[in-house]
Amino acid sequence: MDIQLQFTTDSAPTLDVDVLAVVIDDPTTPPAIVAELDVALGGALGRELGRDRIKADAPSSVTITGGATGPQRVVLVGFGPDADGRLDALRVAGSRVAGAARAAEARTVALAGVDSADDLAALTSGLAIGDFRIHHHRGEPKADDKPRYFGVEQLTLVTDADGDAATAAQAALATAAAQNWARDLANAPANLLTPIKLAEQAEQLAAKHADLSFRTLDRAALEAEGFGMFAAVAQGAHDEPRLIVLEWNPAGATETDAERLALVGKAVTFDTGGISIKPSGGMQDMKMDKGGGCAVLGAMRAIAELGVPHRVIAVVGATMNMPDGNAYRPGDVITAKDGTTVEIISTDAEGRLVLGDCITYVKELGCGGIIDAATLTGAIIVGLGHRYTGAIAKPSSLLDAVLAASADTGDLAWHMPLHEEYKLHLKTECADLKNSGTRDGGALAAGSFLQHFAQDTPFVHLDIAGSGMLPKPRAYYGTKGASGAGVRLMAAVAARWSA
Ligand code: BES
Ligand code: MN
Ligand code: ZN
Repeated sequence: MDIQLQFTTDSAPTLDVDVLAVVIDDPTTPPAIVAELDVALGGALGRELGRDRIKADAPSSVTITGGATGPQRVVLVGFGPDADGRLDALRVAGSRVAGAARAAEARTVALAGVDSADDLAALTSGLAIGDFRIHHHRGEPKADDKPRYFGVEQLTLVTDADGDAATAAQAALATAAAQNWARDLANAPANLLTPIKLAEQAEQLAAKHADLSFRTLDRAALEAEGFGMFAAVAQGAHDEPRLIVLEWNPAGATETDAERLALVGKAVTFDTGGISIKPSGGMQDMKMDKGGGCAVLGAMRAIAELGVPHRVIAVVGATMNMPDGNAYRPGDVITAKDGTTVEIISTDAEGRLVLGDCITYVKELGCGGIIDAATLTGAIIVGLGHRYTGAIAKPSSLLDAVLAASADTGDLAWHMPLHEEYKLHLKTECADLKNSGTRDGGALAAGSFLQHFAQDTPFVHLDIAGSGMLPKPRAYYGTKGASGAGVRLMAAVAARWSA
């Protein structure tokens, strides 16, 4: 359930909420609201602060039972300088508030102590992202089951900040909700979220926004329109593939087709590896191999809800990668949509095949820059772990925009190189390219494969195999599993797009 946001300038001790959280910047000079609350609570807050329970240099929090009226509980939250700066520390503080609320099964939460637009946005974002949990598929409830807790339902920001701060917090919450939606989709099991179901989700999103259009291509259309690589991956899957197109055309936007931003996503709803089948240990995580496509859908939701004033086209390639009597094989030579011939070395290097044709397609439809998001390689996890997305790209103003958005949103990306030399890994005697080379530099060879199809269009490939799939909770993400990496990043690039 998405969190409802409201604002108040009422005195905090009088707020009728389950949890009131006070963010303390500097424990030696707590905000005035602490003194007010302290009177109402008979000195309990002052005692906790006196015991040095809130640190100036590390995330910390303490929960105090409230008085006879007003908040049921008061949570003091400290946040230290973080490696990634004040705003990231505030996101972590926000997620700690969500954690304290969860411990108390609090449905209504108020936040006080900060006023600037950036601070409020970061706290709100961290709270919403930190409150996310993996969808639990429950059996029939028993009569004596207690009502289940689904997280924070209402958030009240206690602030006399101006309208800009309210707008920033509202935008942060909408973007976080879009990210959580992308996480939910990416976590969904492959039997429940097939390519057709994913397309239905995109269709329902488009139905909510007059300026957002939706269409799909099915298997027959993909084959008829020459998506040779995409169709090859899909040919071993009984479930129908879908190519999903969303176009955001807000009134007043001035970009031509050739100037708009394109977002492309890999949505392999399950990656068995195909005939080059993966080992069974951990294979269940490959339900999250649709994370890039889900991130693109999440970014489009944020773009639409925020009313971004620039045109964006999104193309998501959704299919399963299955071994089957009809599956494609290593050694097959396939003709891509743009005419490139590709020798298949590994049917497990399927993402680049789906994406390559999707990139050709957005180029045909018209765009001035392409960002793709994909859980593309295990190699990027070896290189960057789970904190950073790999932004594999040639230097360009699009790359600069991605790196600026990374710093602004905390949806972190690190530049990694594209170079002709990596493309040499993909040379073969029997076709223009092969789909997999050596292990060395594997994430970069995959990027070179995609760059081949982007040609001269400015292009940034986001490999989110590490950042998008968390083996355990990190920072403010609340839970393991799909993180929604790329949603805030791509939405921020779109918001500041200039062709
Ligand atoms: N979906 C995987 C990449 C992946 C691996 C994501 C582990 C998350 C965790 C992708 O389709 C794949 O299988 N890549 C291969 C490429 C290789 C065959 C060239 C890989 O990385 O091993
Ligand atoms: Mn694979
Ligand atoms: Zn894959």
